[in-house]
Amino acid sequence: MSEAVRTILQTNADAAQETSTQTDAGFLWDFWYPAVRSAEIRGQKLVTTMLLEVPLVLGRTAEGKAFAMRDSCPHRGIPLSYGRLDGKVLECCYHGWRFDACSGQCVEIPSLSSQDKLKVERIFAGHYPCEERDGYVWVYMSGPGTRLPEATPAAPALAVFSKKYKITHLSCELPSHVDQGIIGLMDPAHGPFVHQSWFWRKRASIHEKAKQFEPIPSGFRMSPHQPSANSAPYRLLAKMTGETVTTTIDFMLPNLRTEIDRSGKLWFSSRATVTPVRRDLCRIDFVAAWNLPIPVSLFRPFAKKFLRQDQLTMIQQAEGLKYNPRLMLIDDADRQAKWYFALKANLLESRRTGAAMVHPMDGPVTLRWRS
Ligand code: FES
Ligand SMILES: [Fe+2]
Repeated sequence: MSEAVRTILQTNADAAQETSTQTDAGFLWDFWYPAVRSAEIRGQKLVTTMLLEVPLVLGRTAEGKAFAMRDSCPHRGIPLSYGRLDGKVLECCYHGWRFDACSGQCVEIPSLSSQDKLKVERIFAGHYPCEERDGYVWVYMSGPGTRLPEATPAAPALAVFSKKYKITHLSCELPSHVDQGIIGLMDPAHGPFVHQSWFWRKRASIHEKAKQFEPIPSGFRMSPHQPSANSAPYRLLAKMTGETVTTTIDFMLPNLRTEIDRSGKLWFSSRATVTPVRRDLCRIDFVAAWNLPIPVSLFRPFAKKFLRQDQLTMIQQAEGLKYNPRLMLIDDADRQAKWYFALKANLLESRRTGAAMVHPMDGPVTLRWRS
């Protein structure tokens, strides 16, 4: 083969490879993701965001129903967010095509004459199911080319255990792929190094732990247990009720980690999600609710500091990941990360073949690590 031909073939192969990685960014489609906070969409305001590299425009109809459309006019692609919302219909700023905000269906094309036969109602702007829960607007990101299921599953909801409770939300962006964000979230070994704080724990308190895990649908659970005795908040909780504290931590695809702590009548419930924005950017959304006598103003600074510590670490990690280093996952500290990757791969495989999803765990297992 001549050198020139070889070069051309190689370039084509590179291009093919590039397109395939461009189309597959390792996202999990057909799941709910939190898009924006509910409070951000008020009145006629249009808010833009991005999920899984899809630009979105969100708003609220006059009746208060949140909607999410692809931020791109199906006519010439100008972002619909430059248009105008009149309470029910979104009008594109370029040629004035009008779309029903909730269904995306086109309701008017001003340029059509009485002679034109174009069926306006057959034109749709991209739109996604949208639901509000726990102060977030959740968007169901159906995969490119896949049909929406007849009934989309319900959006996730934070577990609460009393009528009255306090609730707070925090979020932060991480300059990394969602997979790194998620395995960071479930990584027990970074605690003593990244989250050293006088109020939480000291590095010297590192000790051996054994935790039981069990499979749950699309995820795994750290079986209900008494939390680490070296954590001040848990000691406080036990002191307040005089009863033992039990903690249950779940991870579920695509990106949810929930933690429920209960002691007598008192409870604390939190959820962290890591949502892909682009392949090089994800966002942690953290919501916590509790009925402990702790004011939001006291809890928030601690939670914020915690999240900030994770964020700084991930910013530093992103510096290193730029150069595609080889990485390792070790037992047992990284076993949860291994399960995450296996769950993800098995889900994709089951979607590909139509067969039931194989769970990577075949029963309860005890993991041991020092932290
Ligand atoms: S680009 Fe939107 S109406 Fe033409
Ligand atoms: Fe952390």
